[in-house]
Amino acid sequence: MIQPLHVGCNFCSEMITKFRCMSAKKSFYFLVLISVICFDNGVTKSYKAVVFMHGIFGDVAVESQELDAWIKQVHPDTPFYAIPLYQRLDSLVPLWKQVDVISKEVISIMNNHTNGIHLICFSQGGLICRGILSTTQHNVDTFISLSAPLAGQYGDTNYLKYIFPNFLKSELHRVLYTKEGQDVSLGNYWKDPHHLEEYQKYSKFLAPLNNDTYTPNINKYKQNFLRLNRLILIGGPNDGVITPWESSHFAYYNSEEKIVEMEQQRYFLEDSFGLQTLYKQKKIKTYTIPGVQHIHWHSNKTVFDNAILPWLI
Ligand SMILES: *[C@@H]1O[C@H](CO)[C@@H](O)[C@H](O)[C@H]1NC(C)=O
Ligand SMILES: *[C@@H]1O[C@H](CO)[C@@H](O)[C@H](O)[C@H]1NC(C)=O
Ligand SMILES: *[C@@H]1O[C@H](CO)[C@@H](O)[C@H](O)[C@H]1NC(C)=O
Repeated sequence: MIQPLHVGCNFCSEMITKFRCMSAKKSFYFLVLISVICFDNGVTKSYKAVVFMHGIFGDVAVESQELDAWIKQVHPDTPFYAIPLYQRLDSLVPLWKQVDVISKEVISIMNNHTNGIHLICFSQGGLICRGILSTTQHNVDTFISLSAPLAGQYGDTNYLKYIFPNFLKSELHRVLYTKEGQDVSLGNYWKDPHHLEEYQKYSKFLAPLNNDTYTPNINKYKQNFLRLNRLILIGGPNDGVITPWESSHFAYYNSEEKIVEMEQQRYFLEDSFGLQTLYKQKKIKTYTIPGVQHIHWHSNKTVFDNAILPWLI
């Protein structure tokens, strides 16, 4: 992992050979100097591995190709992993099941990159990453949430029409807030602001993650989530799928379908899972980017250059 990048291996090994023939005092200072040049240099210049998690109905090759190519262009040595699990129709599997399987894959990546990794998680993938961040002793440095319905979803979209062609959003609570409805991933983060009691009763994923319902593990979730060093929230008003789009920034509808900002959300005020702590530590960066439709977030170079690349350090 730790490699002398700038000065090259020859320089360092030569110095280490010289060190063998020195007096104790001299060798101490020499060692300090060499560690600074050879090791510190290596640590700061080797970029952390990046893991990409696709969205609902996602095809991982399609959704990750630009990101992979752009990262390789700028930081050629960055290890890049795109999680090939639960693609396309399989993405409708309930989220805790997905988190369970995907965590194992992500943990084995983390174990190979002990200096930390970055997560870029798109759309529904953002919720899967939240699940991982709350339930594992991860070493994620930066979680980049790319237009994800982090605070829930309540909207008529093409996706919705595809899964439930005959339902209006205002009626969906009848199917999603049931035992069977929770067997579809969308049901796990459907948050109908007019039926919050049913949401609290049935939502198996978002409600416990937010401590919106009785959650025995909430303190553990919080401890784990706070292992994060940075949280980057990217979203925008022309998204067209995430509804309300502000959900990508942890804001959400109240019962009049007016937006209540993150800072006024109960889970923020009570610091249920660590959001307020991260905010006070200035570890949250929010981007509102107009002009990007949902399916274009991961392939828009302006978004990459301005909102993603600066954090891949
Ligand atoms: C971790 O590294 C080992 C040894 O190089 C390799 O066999 C394994 O596939 C890696 N795991 C992942 C998830 O990349
Ligand atoms: C979670 O909610 C319960 C009430 O249901 C509350 O007593 C507890 O303090 C909350 N915990 C956190 C960490 O927000
Ligand atoms: C890319 O993002 C910029 C904003 O950063 C936006 O103006 C532009 O319309 C986007 N292009 C596409 C194809 O989404």
